[in-house]
Amino acid sequence: MADKKRIAVVGATGAQGGGLARAILADPHSEFAVRGVTRDPESDNAKKLAAQGAEIVTADLDDEASLAAAFDGAYGAYCLTNFWEHFSGDKELEQAGNLARAAKKAGVEHVIWSTFEDTRDSVPLDDDRMPTLQGKYKVAHFDAKAEGNQGFIDAGLATTFLLTSFYWENFIYFGNGPARGEDGVLAVTYPLGDKKLPSMAVEDIGKCAYGLFKAGDTYIGKTVGIAGEHPTGNEIAAAFTKALGEEVRYNDVPADVFRSFGFPGADDVGNMFQFKRDFNEAYCAARSLEFSRSLNPELQTLDQWLAANKDRVPIG
Ligand SMILES: NC(=O)c1ccc[n+]([C@@H]2O[C@H](COP(=O)([O-])OP(=O)(O)OC[C@H]3O[C@@H](n4cnc5c(N)ncnc54)[C@H](OP(=O)(O)O)[C@@H]3O)[C@@H](O)[C@H]2O)c1
Repeated sequence: MADKKRIAVVGATGAQGGGLARAILADPHSEFAVRGVTRDPESDNAKKLAAQGAEIVTADLDDEASLAAAFDGAYGAYCLTNFWEHFSGDKELEQAGNLARAAKKAGVEHVIWSTFEDTRDSVPLDDDRMPTLQGKYKVAHFDAKAEGNQGFIDAGLATTFLLTSFYWENFIYFGNGPARGEDGVLAVTYPLGDKKLPSMAVEDIGKCAYGLFKAGDTYIGKTVGIAGEHPTGNEIAAAFTKALGEEVRYNDVPADVFRSFGFPGADDVGNMFQFKRDFNEAYCAARSLEFSRSLNPELQTLDQWLAANKDRVPIG
C-alpha cells in the first residue's frame, strides 16, 4: 500500500466517485490506492469504503484549504461537484475553482475533472429556443461545469476533461423510468424526438475513470467522452419491454412540456434534453462507445444493466 500512488476521490461516497473507488479497490494489482474524500467519515458509505481498504479523509468542496489538505500527497484526483445538492450553477463553479486551486497547491500530477459541454456555445443566452436559467446559463449543471474547466487550465494542472453521460440509475432515483399512463400502458417520457441518448451505468463511469488514470499521461490535456450505449427513446422503451415482460412505450414530449413537470430542476433537465436532441450528432460523437470500452472492457449494455437492476426501478 505504501508504495502505491494515491488517488484522492471526491464523491467517493457517491455514485461516480464510488465507482472509481470500487474499481481501484477491486484490482489487487492496482498501482493506485484510494483516498476517499467526504464531509462525513462516519457515514455508512465512508465506513464501507474504509472497510474495503480506502483511506478516508474529511474535506468540503466549499473549503479550499480542506481540499488542499485532502489532496496533499496524492498523485491523482478525481474531481466532481454535485449540482443536485444545491441546484446552483454559480456554487458549482466556485467549487470547481476550489478544487483546481487545491489540486495545484497540493501538487497533484493528474486530475480528472468530471465535466460537460458548455451548451451556451450552441445556444447563446439571447437565443430563446430555450429559457435562460439563473440569469447566465442554459443548462446550469452543464454550463457551470464547463466554465469550471478554465480553473484547471489556469492552474496549469495536468487535467483530463471527462464528458460523462446520463446514468441509467436515473431510472431508479430520478423518476426517469416507466410510468403508467391513463390508458394503463407503461411509458418512458423524454423530450428527445427520435434522437439518441448517450447513457450508461454509473459504475462504468468510475471504471472508465480508472482506465484514464491507468493510461498515465495519454489523456492529459484532452477532453474525452464516455457512454455505454446511444439508445433512442424507442430503444429504451423496447429494452424495458423486454426486461419487464410488459409493453413499455416511448412518449416524445415537447421540451416546454417537460420543463413544466414541476419537479425540482425540471427546467434544467428539460433544457438538457433539448440540447441533446438538437445537437445530437455532435453530442453522440463526443461519447464513443469503442473508446469507452477501450478504457473499461466490462462496459455494460442497457440490456445487461436492466437484467441486473430492473427490480430496483420503481414503476410509477
Ligand atoms: N444523474 C446523471 O445522469 C448524471 C450524469 C452525469 C453527471 N452527473 C453529475 O454528477 C454529479 C453528482 O455526482 P454523483 O451522481 O456521483 O452524486 P451522488 O451519488 O449524489 O453523491 C454526491 C457525492 O458528492 C459529495 N459531495 C457533495 N457535496 C460535497 C461537498 N460540499 N464537499 C465534499 N463532498 C461533497 C458527496 O460526499 P459526502 O456526502 O460523503 O460528503 C457524495 O460523495 C452532479 O453534478 C451531476 O450533474 C449526473
